[in-house]
Amino acid sequence: MFPQADQSDTYEDCKATADWLLAQSAVRPSVGIVCGSGLGGLAAALKDQVAFDYKDVPNFPQSTVHGHAGRLVFGTLRGRSCVCMQGRFHLYEGYSVQKVTLPMRIFKLLGVDTVILTNAAGALNQDFKVGDIMILKDHINLPGLSGNHPLVGLNDERFGVRFPCMSDAYERELQQLALDVGQELGFGDFLKEGVYSVLGGPSFETVAESRMLAKLGADAVGMSTVHEVTVARHCGMRVFALSLITNRAVMDYDSPEKANHEEVLVVAKQRAEQVERLICTMVARMERRHNNNDDDDHDDHHDD
Ligand code: HPA
Repeated sequence: MFPQADQSDTYEDCKATADWLLAQSAVRPSVGIVCGSGLGGLAAALKDQVAFDYKDVPNFPQSTVHGHAGRLVFGTLRGRSCVCMQGRFHLYEGYSVQKVTLPMRIFKLLGVDTVILTNAAGALNQDFKVGDIMILKDHINLPGLSGNHPLVGLNDERFGVRFPCMSDAYERELQQLALDVGQELGFGDFLKEGVYSVLGGPSFETVAESRMLAKLGADAVGMSTVHEVTVARHCGMRVFALSLITNRAVMDYDSPEKANHEEVLVVAKQRAEQVERLICTMVARMERRHNNNDDDDHDDHHDD
């Protein structure tokens, strides 16, 4: 028996949850959105909402973190059917990495083909400022590299292959779309690209840890996203992710700065509206490319 094999919900468990949700909502989502700390307001942009508290969804974990509402919201964003997680799960809450990523498999079974994830992160790259939005082009999965990986255990081929490729985890076309949309919305000055490194948390990093991560090539550090991306890619969904830089990781022993969750939520609140606009416009644009193969999107800004 593989260690941890018993921690995964089975395909049948995931299917039961997806079927339960599909029976309660007429929405058939093709886009799944995961809202990071303080960024759950995006769900309010969904029209014709049907929402579920996580506690009412079979097999679902509960959100325990301030800033994460703990609701699964179905609805329409710019005419496109979406499902939105208002709050996600983290290793530091005590959930197994399999439980943290369970919603990705449920997304897949709901019919989602594109996953958009947001998070709050600390900057390691010295050129980044608080309030920057970093488009993820790659990640470093430190817990995964040391064995705490969501795909450890028996592999169910109905989800994906035993040894999935991760060198193409973040869809290039969606990164370019985000850059184009960001430029058009006037976000060019604070839109960056980079590598995100995940740690288990919940403590913020020591100076030595932050320096190590920067030396390894990470531009930002946080406590989420990578596990979900890994499972989303395993089951063949395309992925876009962004980090809102809410603080600069402390890299210097003389620095008076101290990372804290309140600061994370304050900065998230200040930039939330722009993050939401970026994602809404991307979703609108994705739909046109998808349906019409047509880049003519001049009326996108009407209800930005
Ligand atoms: N470190 C880890 N996670 C975070 C940070 C940070 O500095 N900021 C927001 N989430």
